[in-house]
Amino acid sequence: MKNKGTKLTFIADTHHFSGTLSSEGRAYDLRSGSDQKCLNETGGILDAAFSKFTKSDTDAVMIIGDLTNDGERVCHEEFREKLYDLQKSKPVYVITATHDWCCDENPRKFSGNAVYHDVPTVSHDELRDFYYDFGSKQALSEYITHLGTCSYTVDIGENVRLLALNDDQNGKGRAGFKEEHFKWIEQQIKRARDDGKILLGMEHHLLIPHIHPLVMGGSTCVGDREYVASRLADAGLRYMFVGHSHIQRIDSFTSEKGNTITEINVGSLCGYPAPIVNVEIGERGLKINTDFVESFEFDGKRINAGMYLKNKIYALVDRVLDGAEISQSEFCDRLTALQLHGEKFAPIYPLVHILAKYIKNETALGYIKS
Ligand SMILES: [Fe+2]
Ligand SMILES: [Fe+2]
Repeated sequence: MKNKGTKLTFIADTHHFSGTLSSEGRAYDLRSGSDQKCLNETGGILDAAFSKFTKSDTDAVMIIGDLTNDGERVCHEEFREKLYDLQKSKPVYVITATHDWCCDENPRKFSGNAVYHDVPTVSHDELRDFYYDFGSKQALSEYITHLGTCSYTVDIGENVRLLALNDDQNGKGRAGFKEEHFKWIEQQIKRARDDGKILLGMEHHLLIPHIHPLVMGGSTCVGDREYVASRLADAGLRYMFVGHSHIQRIDSFTSEKGNTITEINVGSLCGYPAPIVNVEIGERGLKINTDFVESFEFDGKRINAGMYLKNKIYALVDRVLDGAEISQSEFCDRLTALQLHGEKFAPIYPLVHILAKYIKNETALGYIKS
């Protein structure tokens, strides 16, 4: 399987949020201040990234799911327009994931002090047709899941084939694949081998856990992950690009039969450090190099992406401590915005109120920021 140097670009978890879903106020501030990734800034970050891709020599761009904030129709429509613009210069292939059909059934828009839930969303069985031009249309083979979402294969370079998998549900309440889906995947792995192609897998959820469940709420991976990873490795798949964790990392898993699959976890484009994973495929294998969005436009200004996104992460902790200095209700509200049930922390408020400014100024956090 020789290859003269196909160049590919992977990004993940773009989580595009439409500015039409927010107006200035406390409700948006609480929501935005409780998230590691951006909301209103996503359009500018995407424009900056897509502009880089257009000018680059990459052969194709892949996006590994969670395309939108939470499946809101307006977010999908804006995002797809950007894809059509990018597609004028580069082939673009996407998979969708659970945030693209609002799986928690809790879409939100923010105005003043209020949060409203009357936000139209796109359902999972609409997504395949909605993004038809970015994978299904070019597919060599396609599998429609029980949710109506799709997996597909497509050739993306000389002797390189993409196995794009929708792993939203395995039929047992976890991410993964039903048996019929798995059989199609195994057929595609065999077909790629018969056709002399290097096969790159892409699915949203992780096969290999590198994040503690405390951080990711226990839903980090596909269900029965060792079984799934073993079955993919034993079928002959060697590389899987994943997203979901919003963290960059490369891991490997070896099955009991001695077959290894390497997982390349691509971080969220709209969180620190706005990563873009470039892959060069040559005769000696995959060369992986991470690039970044350097700057983007927001509110009529040019923003340094690295500084801005790093400060956003620090602010996650600072905002809670600042809230503790203001009042008990502010402290609890800011914890609740982090999905931590702030009211349960009310009994320890008097202590935290006293300690907050010391924690901020006199500990490792203050040291790291200086
Ligand atoms: Fe995500
Ligand atoms: Fe996700």
